[in-house]
This record gives sequence, structure tokens and C-alpha cells, in this order.
Amino acid sequence: MKQLLIPKQIITVNSNDDILTNVGVEIENGKINSFVDLKGFDRNSYSGEIVDRSNLTLIPGFVQTHIHLCQTLFRGLADDLELLDWLGKRIFPYENQHNPESLRVSAQLGITELQKGGTTTIVDMGTINHQEVIFEELTQSGMRAFAGKCMVDQNNLYPVFKETTKDSLDTTHALAKQFHNTANGRIKYGFAPRFVLSCTEGLLKDTYQMLLDFEGSLYHTHSSENKDELKAVWEMHSMGNIEYFESIGVLGNRTLLAHCVHVDDPEQVILTETDTRVLHCPSSNLKLGSGIANIPRYINIGINVSLGADGPPCNNNLSQFTEMRLAALIQKPIHGSTSMNAKDVFKMATIKGAEAVNLVHEIGSIEVGKKADLVFLNLDELYHPLNEDNLYSTIVYSTGVESVKDVMIDGEWVVNDGRSLKYDEKKIRAKGKEELEKLLNRVN
Ligand code: GUN
Ligand code: FE
Repeated sequence: MKQLLIPKQIITVNSNDDILTNVGVEIENGKINSFVDLKGFDRNSYSGEIVDRSNLTLIPGFVQTHIHLCQTLFRGLADDLELLDWLGKRIFPYENQHNPESLRVSAQLGITELQKGGTTTIVDMGTINHQEVIFEELTQSGMRAFAGKCMVDQNNLYPVFKETTKDSLDTTHALAKQFHNTANGRIKYGFAPRFVLSCTEGLLKDTYQMLLDFEGSLYHTHSSENKDELKAVWEMHSMGNIEYFESIGVLGNRTLLAHCVHVDDPEQVILTETDTRVLHCPSSNLKLGSGIANIPRYINIGINVSLGADGPPCNNNLSQFTEMRLAALIQKPIHGSTSMNAKDVFKMATIKGAEAVNLVHEIGSIEVGKKADLVFLNLDELYHPLNEDNLYSTIVYSTGVESVKDVMIDGEWVVNDGRSLKYDEKKIRAKGKEELEKLLNRVN
């Protein structure tokens, strides 16, 4: 059945940055079928369903390119630590105690928060065990995602949290075979070696080889986030992190590196030349005290930069609005107030994310033929944006997840008037509390 969405205005994020008024968007079979001129339009003669949101602004769904759904339960349980302690003392011990029930509710809570905040696509780093549960929830929730079991075959920070190289590769291959390109193509595999310190060279290389057998899949890892991490990488390989990735042949336009806070000039050139993507996580970088990535420079030299909230225990939210606001603000004292304008930051949150995951032909903007991943925002109650310039500014600087009203992914409504259509929020919150208590008992 066709649906005609009638918004107040449409921020298209097309190549002209068009903002359309008096235009409806027709959805059919999960895609944007056409734009409909509403001047003189006769609603009574329309054959499909009319969704009148003429007080709301329609934007493309946000693409968050770095998320850890498995960590949602651990929000507030690992504050005020730097990366290696945060991982070794808290996050690895917690992840290690996930069972299918705790992992399931962690994913449900994370997905609900993301969808209610207008995020329609994620790149998720899963955990070592029970990864199929995350795929099940991604399938059932309607989320668009690249996801994969995190791969760890060495671990000095918390030695019991690892598996053999063979087990890691075998399980990964089986999961990719089972879940890559499922749910109408909504779910794809994102191979996820965790970071250099937790992966042997064989694992990193063999995983990259495996990726080549799964068209459209990605290679998703962390890099160059923290100075102590980099020192340890130097001790292990006598090279910088990105130099090392290049030397073993795992960079390219299907490789996504979260953070890239500490990247010297030659390594920046490597990122440009290999077309490797940077996943910028400003909240996480500030909260873990990791530093401030030189994003204006990366963009200047042609590196694709997109945004993600990372995990709830290092943020502690999953809001793309927060990431946009911080991505802009943290650069201004360094690069001047003209750097990182609101429109460019909004694009980082949408179309640049689509480019990062090589889905720019399908998502990231509102254009005929693209998937119907759409978000209705209420910008009028508090903010009254007046014109095109302050429309972007309102979204980046003034609003938050509270402005998100309705969310559609792949043509299916997942949020209506600010409420999840996929999960009973009261139930999953209660279940989350119960499973977290049990998990913490298992850790102790
Ligand atoms: N490096 C390796 N694992 C992680 C993680 O879970 N979060 C962050 N921020 N950095 C990492
Ligand atoms: Fe991360």
C-alpha cells in the first residue's frame, strides 16, 4: 500500500541541499517512490494512505557508524576512567559475563534509544559470545545495521576475555553466512576485529580476506584512540597503528576506523590514499579523555568522516544530536568559529554516514529511489527556525532527541509520536535492570 507523507518541509540532503515545502513524499515497497506537488493536490482522489504531519520537518534518518549495543546495560558503570582501564577493569569483565538474556535486553534497550533518537542505520561492534542474539534483535526491531561479533584472540588487559584465532574466525564466518544481507538486505555483516592490541596479525589479515567473500560487508575496528594504546601498539609492532594496518593490507574503502584521535601527517595521507573511513565519536573522546581528532583537517584532505555515539558507558547517551553538537563545538576553540558549520555537521550525521558504509545509493538523503529511512522532527514548539540557515543550526545546536516524533526504516514505522512500535519500553527497562543485577553478580 502506498503512503503519502505530508511534512511541513523536507531537508533532502540531496546534491543541491534542497529544502522543499509544499511537497509530499510517496512511499511504496520500502522506497521513496516520488515527490508529490501539494499545490492544488486533491487528497480525496489519492489512492493510498495519507500521513499528515504538516507541522513537522522531514529529514533523512541518522546513520551512526560506531555503536556497541552490547554495552547499553553498562551505562554509568565505567565513568571517569581512561581507555585501557575502562576496558580492562570494567568493560571486558562485563562483556565477558553476558549471557543471551542480558545481551538481548542490552540490544533491545540500545536499539530503542537509537530509533527514538532518529537513528535508522548503525554500524555495531558486537561482543565475543552470543552474537546471534544481536542479529535477532536487529532483525525484529526493523533497524538497518552492519553488525558483527567482536573478534579478540589476545588480551593483556583482561586475559580471560578472548578466544582462539580459529574459533574467532570460524564463528565469524558462520555468522556472516547466516546473517549477511538478510531482512530484505537491511542487515549486513560488519567484520569486527576489536583493535590492534586484542588481535593477532593472523586474525586481522584472515578477517580481511574473509570480507572479500561477502559483497557489501565492512571491516570495522578501533584505531589510534588513546596515547597509551598507541604506545602499546608501538611496543608490539614498532609502527603507528594506521601504518601497521596499511602494512598488513587491511585498509581501503570497506574499512572503518573508529576514533583516529592521534594520527600524524604521514598516517593521514595513508587514510586519504586508501580511502579508509574515519568514525568520529566526540562524546566518547572527551569522556575517556582521549583527545580531540583533527576533523577539519581530515575533511580537508578528503577523508570521509561520519559520526557515532560509541557505547553508552563512554558517552553516556546514544544521541546523534549530541554527537553533532559536540563535533561542531569542540573544533571551534582550536580551528576558529567558522570551522564545522551546522550544515556540514548535519551531513556528517546523514549522507557522510551513508558514504562511509558504501550505501549512498540507498540511504542518507531523501531522493526518489532511495530507501524510506525517514524521521519527522518537531522543531516548532520551542525553536521556530526561520530560514534555511537556521534550520540546520536549530537541529545541530538547539534540539535533541525530544524533537523526534516519527521514524520509518525501510518503509516501516518503528517510532510513532515518540514511542517505540517495536518494544514495550516499560517491560524492557524492567528486564534490563533485572539482567544487569544478575550480570553484576556473575562478575563478582
Ligand atoms: N577500543 C577497543 N574496544 C573499545 C571499546 O569498546 N570502546 C572504545 N571506545 N574503544 C575501544
Ligand atoms: Fe567503540
